[in-house]
Amino acid sequence: MNMREDLDHILYDEQTIADRVAALGRAISQAYAGQDLLVVGVLKGATVFFADLIRQIDMPLEMDFIAVSSYGRRSSTTGEVRFIKDLDVSVENRNVLLVEDILDTGTTLKYLSDIMRSRQPASVKICTLLDKPTRRTADIEADYVGFVIPDAFAVGYGLDYAEKYRNLPMIGVLKKEMYQ
Ligand code: IMP
Ligand code: MG
Repeated sequence: MNMREDLDHILYDEQTIADRVAALGRAISQAYAGQDLLVVGVLKGATVFFADLIRQIDMPLEMDFIAVSSYGRRSSTTGEVRFIKDLDVSVENRNVLLVEDILDTGTTLKYLSDIMRSRQPASVKICTLLDKPTRRTADIEADYVGFVIPDAFAVGYGLDYAEKYRNLPMIGVLKKEMYQ
């Protein structure tokens, strides 16, 4: 079975993603130069982006992961977030950079950034690979954005539909019939 045949079209190919991730890494390296940095990936969708991004950040950093409940098999938000895995380390007095696959309604990142901010960190910033601003309902914006996309269901490069397609190396829009 060819996963690529389930795509309606490709949004960003491997090279386009790599170039953009390198640019984000440079911007983050400049912003945090000489400072402490804890990069926090949101499982599981951010893992592919996270792995590439940290290798484009040219300074010492530490990494950790958190997990929240996802859509499950549905393709639209429930507005409900559940903490599944917390950080292993304390964020007190640390610069936290939350790394997420996509900022959609904003429910997830609003919830997570509020929790992080309640723990007396030095700072909390957000880096998201994709941003769908037209879908936003929560009061939250990202500090670093890979690509702004229209309201379509994206898969690949870590993003899933019902846990599939995360290993596609490009980002594409799924054919409607795949989730209807
Ligand atoms: P939010 O809480 O509505 O901002 O949704 C964030 C989460 O929804 C992301 O971490 C994704 O898991 C999922 N999500 C939202 N839009 C998409 C999409 O287009 N493709 C895949 N997952 C998505
Ligand atoms: Mg996710």
